[in-house]
Amino acid sequence: MKTIAFFNNKGGLGKTSLVYHLAWMFAEQEYRIVVADLDPQANLSGMFLEEETLATLWQDADKKTIDGSIAPLFTGIGDISEQPYIEKISERIGLLTGDLALSKREDDLSGQWSKCMDGDERAFRVTAAFARLIASAGKEFEADLTLVDVGPNLGAINRTALIASDYVVIPLAPDLFSLQGLRNVGPTLITWRTAWKERIKKKPKALKIDLPKGEMKPLGYIVMRHSAILSRPVKAYLNWINKIPAEYRKSVLDITDGSSSPSIENDENILAHLKDYRSLMPMAQEANKPMFMLKPADGVIGGQQNAVRNCYEDFQSLAKIILQRIDEG
Ligand SMILES: Nc1ncnc2c1ncn2[C@@H]1O[C@H](COP(=O)(O)OP(=O)(O)O)[C@@H](O)[C@H]1O
Ligand SMILES: [Mg+2]
Repeated sequence: MKTIAFFNNKGGLGKTSLVYHLAWMFAEQEYRIVVADLDPQANLSGMFLEEETLATLWQDADKKTIDGSIAPLFTGIGDISEQPYIEKISERIGLLTGDLALSKREDDLSGQWSKCMDGDERAFRVTAAFARLIASAGKEFEADLTLVDVGPNLGAINRTALIASDYVVIPLAPDLFSLQGLRNVGPTLITWRTAWKERIKKKPKALKIDLPKGEMKPLGYIVMRHSAILSRPVKAYLNWINKIPAEYRKSVLDITDGSSSPSIENDENILAHLKDYRSLMPMAQEANKPMFMLKPADGVIGGQQNAVRNCYEDFQSLAKIILQRIDEG
């Protein structure tokens, strides 16, 4: 099983919607998917589950969320649950449900990260908590892939999530904020990767848990272009979009040999342009299903049927290219 994180330092780009739709598309292609909602805002869980279900999961004394599964380790009375609770969304999609309470773990995760350097046992248990949770969920659900959604910051929760990930996909928009986001995210990923390798060497011999490799290998970027972005003048859009290939190579791939970067059309690092699906998005939210599965019974009329088909094809191609990149190693 491979784990892919979707990550950028800029919020509101459509990242969570992207993870939601990709999960359904991979499932449509008969892959088994675990989705880990590691953003304490839990928007992804809100897309998968009815509010009532979510409310029940959050209220249970024995919480059936990600935080519930790791809580014994953080309250100091045990380790993470060996059988994390997986909310079955469909035959092939299992959700590790997000939880606002996860934000309370930030400080401990941050402190234990340093303590790994002292070879502290609990520090490794805590720092590898998400990776271990994902590994056991993947096994239990017999998943082929785990997709990880995180919030748009560079804090300890996200570091722990990225260490758990074999690959990372970076959604971005052609604007100043996304370019700046790349300049933050790229070097941060490089630092986390190196720092984790240093820590792995300090693992106490007596500690019998598997640690993740922390590869977080960049698979590429996805250009998001919904309405907020498209409403800006075309010139500004072109200005920013033309800067993406070089910035990605420099900041994320650390290529600084002075070689020139291709134009975005010829860039091997772009995985897709995702368009604005306009009215399909609110309809999908209303119908509790992905945009590409909307039917006339959900209110799709006339030209929207074409848009639904196009949307299906867009996500089909994106899922395919992601799998290809993974196969290439
Ligand atoms: N491709 C798209 N077309 C139209 N609207 C979109 C698209 N992607 C996301 N949105 C909308 O943009 C808003 C932010 O999306 P979200 O997935 O929560 O972003 P993020 O996780 O990056 O903060 C939501 O209201 C969502 O419905
Ligand atoms: Mg989000």
